[in-house]
Amino acid sequence: MRVVVLAAGAGVRMRSTLPKVLHRVAGRALVEAVLDAAAALSPSRTVVVVGADRGRIVALLEGRGVHFAVQDPPRGTGDAVARAREALGDGGGPVVVLAGDTPLLRPETLAALVALRRAKDLDLAFLTFRPPDPGDFGRVVRDSRGRPTGIVEAKNASARQKRIAEVNAGVYCFAPEALAKALPKIGRNPVSGEYYLTDAVAILAARRGKVEAAAADDWREAWGVNTRRDLAAAEELERRRGVERALDAGVTILDPGTVRIGPHVTFAPDVVLHPFVCLEGRTALSEGCEVLSFTRLLDTQLAAGVVIGPHCDAEGAVVGLNAKVGPYSRLRPGTVLEEDVRVGNFVETKNAVLRKGVKALHLAYLGDVEVGAGANIGAGVITCNYDGEKKHRTTVGEGAFIGTDTQLVAPVTVGKGAYVGAGTTVTRDVPDGALALSRPPLVVKEGWAARRKARKTG
Ligand code: UD1
Ligand code: CA
Repeated sequence: MRVVVLAAGAGVRMRSTLPKVLHRVAGRALVEAVLDAAAALSPSRTVVVVGADRGRIVALLEGRGVHFAVQDPPRGTGDAVARAREALGDGGGPVVVLAGDTPLLRPETLAALVALRRAKDLDLAFLTFRPPDPGDFGRVVRDSRGRPTGIVEAKNASARQKRIAEVNAGVYCFAPEALAKALPKIGRNPVSGEYYLTDAVAILAARRGKVEAAAADDWREAWGVNTRRDLAAAEELERRRGVERALDAGVTILDPGTVRIGPHVTFAPDVVLHPFVCLEGRTALSEGCEVLSFTRLLDTQLAAGVVIGPHCDAEGAVVGLNAKVGPYSRLRPGTVLEEDVRVGNFVETKNAVLRKGVKALHLAYLGDVEVGAGANIGAGVITCNYDGEKKHRTTVGEGAFIGTDTQLVAPVTVGKGAYVGAGTTVTRDVPDGALALSRPPLVVKEGWAARRKARKTG
C-alpha cells in the first residue's frame, strides 16, 4: 500500500498567505489530519505533493517519514499524481490518493475503501458522499445500472448534472496498473486548462475497467475545505462529532452548541459538562466528574467524582477521587492531586504533588513541591522555587499548617505537623512539630494620626 496526498494546489479561494493545507481544524493542520488518517493504513511509502509554497509544509511534516514530490506550477490533481509517481517507487501494491484538504476523514472509512478494492479486485474504488448542498464538489455520474461512468466538476456540469446529489470526496484507491494506464490519458480540461484526476473514472470505465464508488456512511467526514466558510464548517462538524461521541458515551452536556471535545478525549458514564467547556489532547474523565463553564482541560486525567469549577485551566494534570478544583485554578504539567484534595481560586500548581486531603484554597503558587496528606496551605503561600538559574524543591510534611502569606524559599522542608505562622519567610528547614515564625515586631503608635494632622495644618 502506498499513499499520495495532494497538497500543491494554490488554494486561492482561502484568501490567505498561509498555504491552504496548513490551516487548522481542531488544532491540526489539514494535511496533518489527512496524514494521520492515512497512517492507519500502515503504507509502505507516503508521498506528499507540494507546490511553490512548500517550505512551511515541508518544515511542518519533517520527522513524519513522508517523501515529497514537487508540482510547480499546479496544473490540476491529475498532474499532481503524475508528479508523485517517481517518489512512489515501484514497490507495487495499490495506490491510495487523498486530497490534502479533507481533514475529517476517518481511518475506518479509508480502510473500508481499500478492502472494497481488494475484495473485488477493482481497478479503482473511490469515495463519494451526499452533503446537504453538493455545491462545488464533483458530481458522480452513474449509468442505468448504477455503475459510475465519470465525475463531472461543478463548473463543467450541465444543469441536470448539477442536480446530482452524490459527489466525489477526492479519495481514491487504484490498482497500480490501472493508475499507470489512466494517468497518461488524462487530457487538459477545456474549461480550466487543468489535468483532472477525476477523469480517471471515465477513462477506466470506458475501457471496461472495474470501477466502483462507495458512499461514506456519514457525509460530514468527506467534507473538503476550499474557502474560509468551508474551514469554519469543518471546525463545527468536528466539534459536533466530539460532542456526539461524548453523548453516546453517557455524558450529559448542558449546552452542546458551546462545548469542544478533541478526538482523543475519553469518558466514563455520568460525566457532566457545563457550557463552554473545552477538552483537548489525551484528557480522560472518569465516572461522575463534573466540569463547569469556561474550563479547559488538556492531557488531564480526572478520577471519579472530581469537580472542576468554572474558569480553570489544566494541562498535564492528574486529579484524584472526589477532588475539587476551582473556580479560577491553574494546574500546570506535573500536577498530581490525590483523593479529596481541594484547590481553590487563583491557585497555580506546577510539578506539584498534593497528597490526600490537602487544602490550598486561595491565591497560592505551588511549584516543584510535595505536600503531605492533610496539610493546609493558607492564602497567599508561595513556593520560591526559582533562584533565577535553577529550580529547587519544597517539601511540606503531612498535616503541616502553612499560614497565610508565607514564602517557602526552596530548597526547603517543613516537617510533619509543623506550623508556619502567617507572613513568614521560611529560609531553612522546619523540624516536625515545630513552629516557624519570622515577623518583624509590630509597632503601634497611639494617637499618631491626630499628631500628623496637627503637623500638617500647623
Ligand atoms: C476536487 C475534485 C472534486 C471533489 C473535491 C473533493 C478534481 C478535479 N476535483 O475538487 O471532484 O469533489 O476535490 O474535495 O480533482 N492539488 C494539487 N495540485 C493541483 C491542484 C490541486 O496538489 O494542481 C491539491 C490541492 O492542494 C488539494 C487537492 O489537490 O489538497 C484538491 O484540489 P482542489 O483544488 O481543492 O480541488 P476541488 O476543487 O476541491
Ligand atoms: Ca478541495
